[in-house]
Amino acid sequence: MPIKKYIIANWKMNLNLAESVNLAKEMKEKFSGFDQGEVVVCPSILALSEVEKILKGGKAILGAQNVFWEDKGMYTGEISADMLAEVGCKYVILGHSDRRKYLFENYEMIHKKVRAVMETEKLTPIVCIGETLEEKESDKRDFVLVEQLQQALSGIDVFGEQRVIVAYEPVWALGTGTAIDPAEAEYAHKIIKLALNDMFGMRVVSKNFSVIYGGSINSKNVKSFANLENMDGLLVGGASLKAEEFYKVAKSIVN
Ligand code: 13P
Repeated sequence: MPIKKYIIANWKMNLNLAESVNLAKEMKEKFSGFDQGEVVVCPSILALSEVEKILKGGKAILGAQNVFWEDKGMYTGEISADMLAEVGCKYVILGHSDRRKYLFENYEMIHKKVRAVMETEKLTPIVCIGETLEEKESDKRDFVLVEQLQQALSGIDVFGEQRVIVAYEPVWALGTGTAIDPAEAEYAHKIIKLALNDMFGMRVVSKNFSVIYGGSINSKNVKSFANLENMDGLLVGGASLKAEEFYKVAKSIVN
């Protein structure tokens, strides 16, 4: 059976608890008849429990924006994969460029997070990679993507039906309102799939891995991303903060 496309909302730090609850209610309603793709909503940690109560029984599934790699202990401010699973999370974003930029998260840390998440077998990791403007302008993109993948994922075991989502997010296209040229995204996704094939073998990659795009996707530009090769879904920031807009994005990518 072909794997459904992912449409993942990353609310980042945009909504307080009351706003998150309201938007979750709207999302549940909007997506009530939506079966063509896997819809994931990632609120802030503060709102996870309340949003889960609302989403329960609906089509949208809960995800988190970050996790720590240890189970428990003296790690002030951190949250483990088991803790996320306990409140109903099924997905977790790892190594988002916002965290790489502002919190100096690096791929050694991201690797530990991927390992911890895969070992729990309770959460699907959404592993973010992507070049900066400087890397793009110095023609290093392909090299950077392969290196980030290797650092994040080499030596990781993928068991049975476990899924791994790789999100290609060119850092320079996030939050700008202008997505990259779809042909560029298609090319980058091909590079990513080839690198994954080298690391895990084609069979595992086609069965267990998905590659999705993130960066200024909205209801107006999404159509040109819908039928690209190796495009398994979208990670959406700004356009996921309005239920109607996010629904339009989701409908366009699965049609
Ligand atoms: P925007 O869609 O707002 O560019 O954000 C993309 C993103 O960072 C999703 O993780």
